Amino acid sequence: MKYTLAFDVYGTLINTSGVYTSLEKMIGNKAKPVMDTWRNKQLEYSFRRGLMNKFVDFSVCTKNALDYSCQLFKVNLSDAQKNALLNEYKVLPSYPDVKKGLQQLKNQEHKLYAFSNGSATAVSNLLINAEIIDFFDGVVSVEAIKMFKPSPKVYEYFNKKTNSNKSDSWLISSNPFDVIGAASYGIKTAWVQRTQELIFDPWGIEPTTIINSMEELSTKLK
Ligand code: LAC
Repeated sequence: MKYTLAFDVYGTLINTSGVYTSLEKMIGNKAKPVMDTWRNKQLEYSFRRGLMNKFVDFSVCTKNALDYSCQLFKVNLSDAQKNALLNEYKVLPSYPDVKKGLQQLKNQEHKLYAFSNGSATAVSNLLINAEIIDFFDGVVSVEAIKMFKPSPKVYEYFNKKTNSNKSDSWLISSNPFDVIGAASYGIKTAWVQRTQELIFDPWGIEPTTIINSMEELSTKLK
C-alpha cells in the first residue's frame, strides 16, 4: 500500500540541538538547561496560544521562549547574540539517519510531506538548507488554519490538504504529544525514539509503531 506520510519537522527531521555549540560558546555549562527550557517553553507557548485562540507565527513562540529561558537561568545575552541564535534556528541540520530513511520511502513511492507548526516559508527554507527538500511532495503548515498541534483540527487539515484520509496516512514524529494528538484524531503513527532515555507519555494511547531511526520506517509501514 502507498501511504501519505506527514513528517514532523522540529525535533524529528531537524535537530533543534544544533544551537548547542553556539550556546555553549556564549554561556558555557548553562547551555544545556537553557536549550532544554527554550525548547520546552516554545512548545508550551504554542499549546497555550492554541487554547487561547491567539495564534502567532511559531517563530514568535521560539523567540518568547528564548527570552524566558534566559531570564530563568539569569543569562545575559545581548540582542545581537539572541538574534544570532534565532537565525541559527532557521538553518538547523537534519539528523544523520534522515536522508537515507527518506530515500527508502521515496523509492517505495509513498507521498512525503513535511507537516509542522512552523510557517511554510520557515520550513521550506530549513529543508532546502538541510538538502532534503527534494524528497517531499509538499510542506503543510498549520498557519493556514491558525491552530497549533495537537489540535485534531490540524491533523484533519493535513488530510484535507493532501487529499488523504485517516486510513491511508501516517504521522511520523519524535514528539510524543504530536504522536498522541495524531493517534487520538485517528491516523496511524510512528514514534521516532532515537535515544532510549526518551519516554512516551503514559496515557494509554500508543503509537502504531516505534522506530529508533528513520531508516527503520520503510520496513514498518503496514
Ligand atoms: C513541528 C514541531 C512541533 O515541527 O516540532 O511541528
